[in-house]
Amino acid sequence: MANQLNMLVILGSVREGRMAAPVGRWVMERGAARGDLNLELVDPAEWNLPFFPHPKPPAAGNYQDPLQIRWAQKIASADGYVLICPEYNHSGSAVLKNALDTVFAEWGRKPVGFVGYGSVGAARSIEQLRLTTIALEMAPINSSVHLIRPSAKRDGDRFNADSYDDKALAALFDDLAWWGRTLKAGREG
Ligand SMILES: Cc1cc2nc3c(=O)[nH]c(=O)nc-3n(C[C@H](O)[C@H](O)[C@H](O)COP(=O)(O)O)c2cc1C
Repeated sequence: MANQLNMLVILGSVREGRMAAPVGRWVMERGAARGDLNLELVDPAEWNLPFFPHPKPPAAGNYQDPLQIRWAQKIASADGYVLICPEYNHSGSAVLKNALDTVFAEWGRKPVGFVGYGSVGAARSIEQLRLTTIALEMAPINSSVHLIRPSAKRDGDRFNADSYDDKALAALFDDLAWWGRTLKAGREG
């Protein structure tokens, strides 16, 4: 569809048996059903980004490493992002933080939404990630999804959301789309 916004749904875990996979699949399916978003699932397990090893901070630009350049192109291709967030020791996962840290300008002036899961729906993890995304000059949107005890709704590679979860995700997508359209117009202007 013309005028679709490009959105990346980025998994926050590479762990064997990760919950991130069924939750990410649910987010992809609900997002695709809207019609206004062109969603792509990004799996850090396939990218294998190293813990940031490069001599120059990403904010300086001028990336040299081929994998970092490819990651920059992938991030640059989107008008916004949904991060699928586990909570590890009351914080975000290292894999998600490293994915964010690896490039800089490509994230900027774009909205980001958070879908978290865990004993408190990853609320602590998400609040910390908001600070990181502000440092990257992103626009973290207020509507977030917090899935409590997600394993009770897991059926293999599917997440069986209830109507409350679906409503929270719909609100996130509505805000993400508004910010996505508005900031895209701003960047293009
Ligand atoms: C290293 C580690 C730390 C964890 N710390 C927390 C935590 O602080 N809060 C929480 O709710 N769950 C915590 N958990 C449990 C996770 O919520 C649960 O394992 C979840 O499935 C992790 O996401 P993933 O399966 O996508 O990796 C932790 C799990 C791991 C592996």
